[in-house]
Amino acid sequence: MAFNIAVDGPAGAGKSTVAKLVAQELGYIYVDTGAMYRAMALFFLREGIAPQDEASISAACERITVSLGMEHGEQQVYLNGENVNGLIRTEEVGKMTSDTSIYPKVREKLTQLQREMAAATDLIMDGRDIGTCVLPDAQVKVYLTASVETRGKRRYLELKERGMDCSLEEICNDIQARDEQDKNRKIAPLRQAEDAVLIDSSCLSIEETVAKIQKLVQEKKRS
Ligand code: DC
Repeated sequence: MAFNIAVDGPAGAGKSTVAKLVAQELGYIYVDTGAMYRAMALFFLREGIAPQDEASISAACERITVSLGMEHGEQQVYLNGENVNGLIRTEEVGKMTSDTSIYPKVREKLTQLQREMAAATDLIMDGRDIGTCVLPDAQVKVYLTASVETRGKRRYLELKERGMDCSLEEICNDIQARDEQDKNRKIAPLRQAEDAVLIDSSCLSIEETVAKIQKLVQEKKRS
């Protein structure tokens, strides 16, 4: 049976950075489910579909194939065969993703794909609903969070580094709004699974957070 690690938590908690490193250490595959939702949102944007138009979004799901691959050691996401990795990290796509990941058709499609991947191979998968919904039997579950201020500051520094003009206050407001939307949606809302271990990374370094997850994996494998 494949060994699965589920990592959930709000935007900016450091899930992908940490999960990528844990995957490297363990020789596991890393799956960024947010990237899959983002690829679908990009398709809806390109088609000019309004985020409120559930019927058109549900119908459009039939025309989408999302797949993952590896290039230069990095996960790549493909939308109908096109590598869209460089196109899905904008605020516009992020907002569309949060708005459209509420719909059952969108979630069903990706949940099925994610479960197939997890059944086939040892992996660490991050998202919002992995421990609660996608992989309820994952051997290790982590809920990784951090204060809004910490997450806002990390995002601010990341954008500044990329030479983008931004305001810390706006970023914090944006993060708070995204949290509210992800936590309060009807289907698969963001929440900590009962058997997930809570890790607050506000005062932890990346290395310390990675070490905590590795310890959980070792303990589970020994038990
Ligand atoms: O992790 P991220 O910022 O790339 O996620 C973008 C959006 O996708 C986020 O607002 C919620 C949604 N998402 C989801 O609903 N379920 C997941 N498993 C992963 C992401």
